[in-house]
Amino acid sequence: MTILETLKKPEITEDLRGRGYSRRDMGRIAALLGGTVALGRAAPALAQQSARAVIGAVRIGSNECWTGPLPAGAAAAMKIVTEGNRYEPNGEHDQLFAAVSAVEGLPATHIKAWPGSSDPLNRAAVTFASPTRGIVTADPTYEQIWRTGAWIGAKVTKAPLGPQYQHDVKAMLAADPNAGLYYVCSPNNPTGTLTPIADIVWLAENKPKDAVLIVDEAYIHFADAPNAAKLVAARDDVLVMRTFSKLFGMAGMRLGLTFAAPSLHEKMMRYDGMQVTNMLPMTAVACGTASIPLAAEIKARRDEMIAVREKTIAHLQSRGLKVLPGSHANMFMVEWKGKAPKEVMAALLAQNVQIGRSWTAYPTMSRVTVGSAADMEKFRIAVDKVLMA
Ligand SMILES: Cc1ncc(COP(=O)(O)O)c(C=O)c1O
Repeated sequence: MTILETLKKPEITEDLRGRGYSRRDMGRIAALLGGTVALGRAAPALAQQSARAVIGAVRIGSNECWTGPLPAGAAAAMKIVTEGNRYEPNGEHDQLFAAVSAVEGLPATHIKAWPGSSDPLNRAAVTFASPTRGIVTADPTYEQIWRTGAWIGAKVTKAPLGPQYQHDVKAMLAADPNAGLYYVCSPNNPTGTLTPIADIVWLAENKPKDAVLIVDEAYIHFADAPNAAKLVAARDDVLVMRTFSKLFGMAGMRLGLTFAAPSLHEKMMRYDGMQVTNMLPMTAVACGTASIPLAAEIKARRDEMIAVREKTIAHLQSRGLKVLPGSHANMFMVEWKGKAPKEVMAALLAQNVQIGRSWTAYPTMSRVTVGSAADMEKFRIAVDKVLMA
């Protein structure tokens, strides 16, 4: 059954119509969840900002990890290649859920696996927002849900980050008290800042009862801080999202997780979700399963990143550049002493160093990803050259 056929089932059509979606919107939902539209192309202004990776350059523009999967994860993936004739040689999805369950202290019934976190983010927007129930995010934050909201006709409201660059959850609720979806990214992309769990709990408790709170923890393993996973054991209106694309070095392998009450997950499955979730390449599943319990290796990678990040920030500050404080992730925002980020980006690219984009809310700043020690040494040398030019 195609996604369009699914959407034409009477009970699904009725649900979508009841939430304010038009016939035209249904075509757009089918294109979005069926993978026939890439929203980067639907919103050219945003897409232009995220330049394609330049092969051979120092790539510190898209928040990837500077190195590949943890060695035990890579070994598990390589081993399972030899059993590639089987759809699932030995209950690998269940092994993944058991491993995640042991680490997070969550029942396996509350865990689903995805090819990264982009699909469940779109799916959650379609399920919980609509033309009549909006989406609220911080500003700046990870923009994917802005594009999805625009595509499905949901109002997107943005509340500026607070004074410490954390999410201002009270301002978020006040900005649209009747939204269908509230999105908190912690640590936040692009600032790397954490939102305290107490603030996340406050938003869960004070938003409309039938609205859903997403906590996107794509970068949480880079922050030695409490996470929101346990919230989903007690509530049926919180969705926590994880990805293996960041600290675990698996962006190209595609593996993500959502944590939620089974009733909430079930709603997300309505639009052909079963064709995507829990149907993943065995290499990614095996790699994730072997990686997730490796607390010492995770800490070592985090410590390595923090040392490199702090050394880089200290260097930039010694050159009189302003760096936003409080990053707990593999990125930071830097301001270029009055030079336009686009020009600095081009000048650094001429030195073979590719940095990240700017956000409209912080137009004088660029996001820089923390790469390896060697990457960041090249970045520092290139910055010195460009600033002196
Ligand atoms: C905050 C955040 N969430 C989700 C994603 C999506 O990542 P993926 O689809 O690779 O899991 C990203 C990627 O940069 C991100 O920064």
